[in-house]
Amino acid sequence: MLLGVNIDHVATLRALRKVDYPDLARAVREAEAGGADFITAHLREDRRHIRDGDLATITDATGSWLNLEVSIAEEMIAIAATSAPKSVCLVPERRQELTTEGGLDVVNNAAAIAAAVTRLSGAGIEVSLFIEPQSGQVEAAAACGAAAVELHTGAYANLFADADAQAKELARLAAAARLAGKLGIKVNAGHGLTVANVAPIAAIDGVAELNIGHSIVADAIFSGLRQAVADMRAAARI
Ligand code: PXP
Repeated sequence: MLLGVNIDHVATLRALRKVDYPDLARAVREAEAGGADFITAHLREDRRHIRDGDLATITDATGSWLNLEVSIAEEMIAIAATSAPKSVCLVPERRQELTTEGGLDVVNNAAAIAAAVTRLSGAGIEVSLFIEPQSGQVEAAAACGAAAVELHTGAYANLFADADAQAKELARLAAAARLAGKLGIKVNAGHGLTVANVAPIAAIDGVAELNIGHSIVADAIFSGLRQAVADMRAAARI
């Protein structure tokens, strides 16, 4: 299993003051020194954290690779195709949201999503679709030609106070992972994962990659980014 470290919130801190620090390239190097297998960043349509110029900075700094998250808006697909990261995760995006809320509705937007997948795959990019752990969404993702799905673990993370409901959500994630495996697509997972809740997700059969950002950057305030990444690897038993 690989750990992707999302560095958006290093850029959020920079954007809060409209200055040029903290240094993203240094964050990439520190994350990798702590054991990040790759670096994830979300170029949002409103550029609230990561900016266009950061993509080259991250790509130049990384000894691993960039996994770029973008919406399916034409502008974003064009940027993704030109900057040619190793992988792209397509996500839904609403301007008002604090973070990505919910997965892509692949079932009801199949044509537009399939077109984006075809374009990016044609540029040699591995494309994953960020979806809810629902069988219909997994099947629609496979039908769109996606190489991977990233299962949204946000609901699981938010159910920390209700052990029964959380166990049910975990079972839903495991079932979605099994189905994706049967359909021959790779399974990734992420959103809301912390050192306290990551282990059961990391233990789901077939999960190839985890994408974790907010909690790692939050922990880094106390322990430093390198250590926070190392602590996440240990919690996920990677
Ligand atoms: N995966 C996807 C597709 C996301 O959009 C995000 C948040 O940007 C994450 C994973 C990471 O979530 P978190 O910051 O809660 O760890």
